[in-house]
Amino acid sequence: MDNRPIGVFDSGLGGLTAVRRLEKLLPQERIVYFGDTGRVPYGNRGEDVITRYAAQDCRFLLSQDVKMIIAACGTVSSVAPQVLTSLPVPGFGVVEPTAKAAVAATKNGKIGIIGTAATVKSGSYAKAIAALAPEVTVFGRECPLFVPLVENGWIGEDDAVAALTVERYLQPLKEQGIDTLILGCTHFPLLIPHIRAYLGEGVALISAGDEAAKACATALAEADALADPSQTGETAFYVSDKSQNFAAVAEIFLGRPAAEHIHRVDIDSL
Ligand code: DGL
Repeated sequence: MDNRPIGVFDSGLGGLTAVRRLEKLLPQERIVYFGDTGRVPYGNRGEDVITRYAAQDCRFLLSQDVKMIIAACGTVSSVAPQVLTSLPVPGFGVVEPTAKAAVAATKNGKIGIIGTAATVKSGSYAKAIAALAPEVTVFGRECPLFVPLVENGWIGEDDAVAALTVERYLQPLKEQGIDTLILGCTHFPLLIPHIRAYLGEGVALISAGDEAAKACATALAEADALADPSQTGETAFYVSDKSQNFAAVAEIFLGRPAAEHIHRVDIDSL
């Protein structure tokens, strides 16, 4: 048993999709979340910068005495996975569990991958899928504008900008006849209503945050490192910049209010 908190980080709010799933799966766990809201997005940056940011994010979480770190960020998991393997506690990214779930879901062997520019260019998901199922064909598509849409809350079902952006990005994947789509960036699940409306019910949507949370729950159970079941879980939120709409958008990600527990961190000093 291990009652220390689970550390989760992302470039911004997207990683909250993993937190939401973790809270459901493991209600007894304490979670420390860091969202680098002052430096989001990571997805348009170079490898050196993403690696430095990811190392600082991990340093902050380690200072909170976490027992495990989840990079709930497709970009960090794809571009800087070495940061996660050199930690004094177990580190997890989103790529491997998500690729595994997509391979299990596809029937026609055509998987689409959407993510930030850095994620798609890295070929991380494609490589993980090829290792599991070389016969599967993958189609990648960078969708950088999805991140600011989500961070600004332009995601409502009647939002015409979101609908048009989804159509423009996903049209080539639809034409390829994919039956499974990896939402390779943890921000993207908030656009699921638009993605579903455009692709139809026949395409399985695999969310990176969800799959990472499930894999970590399994890993903690296997290592006998879950918290005492009588412990009441709670999540503390840390950000590098407190934007005006943070609480409102965080609430959409989490499906519950978060405002009273948000703290600011000077991440550049770490
Ligand atoms: N949440 C990040 C990811 O999963 C995307 C946002 C960014 O570009 O920083 O890749």
